[in-house]
Amino acid sequence: MRKPMLAGNWKMNKTRDEAIQFELAVADKLPKSVDCVVCAPAIILRDLVKRAPEGLKIGAQNMHEKESGAFTGEISPVMLKDVGVEYVIIGHSERRTYYNETDQKVNEKIKKALEFGLKPIVCVGETLEEREGNKTEAVLETQVTKALEGVEISNTEDVIIAYEPIWAIGTGKNADQNTAEEACSYIRGIVEKVQSKKVADEIRILYGGSVKVNNIKDYMQMPNVDGGLVGGASLKADDFVELCNKAI
Ligand code: 13P
Repeated sequence: MRKPMLAGNWKMNKTRDEAIQFELAVADKLPKSVDCVVCAPAIILRDLVKRAPEGLKIGAQNMHEKESGAFTGEISPVMLKDVGVEYVIIGHSERRTYYNETDQKVNEKIKKALEFGLKPIVCVGETLEEREGNKTEAVLETQVTKALEGVEISNTEDVIIAYEPIWAIGTGKNADQNTAEEACSYIRGIVEKVQSKKVADEIRILYGGSVKVNNIKDYMQMPNVDGGLVGGASLKADDFVELCNKAI
């Protein structure tokens, strides 16, 4: 049985005070049967970890692939571990697009995250052009294969894959449940090929892209979708609570 996960990706939103208010507002309202996570801007992670109510786990949105060094402005896995972060998003399409994050970098980051006891939420997904050109499967195959190359997954709860079609992110045009299921099922097949049947059966695969309180249940009904990675709709405490409670 795979435990459902509802992860909020706040992106570049919320001040420290707003984030603390959010934590106070969700306290005692989150289901135990779901891994409820918020991935917040790095500068407020320490405060969020310190004050996190029971049942709320904290994640970062990115990390550098090296432990330390001359990389001005970057944040290392050692630092994330030091503030007590549990998860880290790796390879979000916004990072791939705006910050030139390659499959190779994604692979290095996943390995480093695991080495330091951080749980990577690895994002993959195709552009609209790729989907319309019938390249979705090829894109997913390349991204997942390269991401997991040489990655040793000893605990299958520690690695999460998020299928996030780029055309569905922040557009309000969510992939329908069958499209999401098809892609997540395809990703599970690749994981079986490059890892093992056990890992494929146990690893959690989330759908992300315009997930809202009124569509999360559609995804949760699908056999290969184990939860959601939610941007905009995770920013309001009430909506986040509702999303988590519907992700059962
Ligand atoms: P939206 O839910 O705002 O479409 O964002 C999805 C996303 O990018 C989550 O990582």
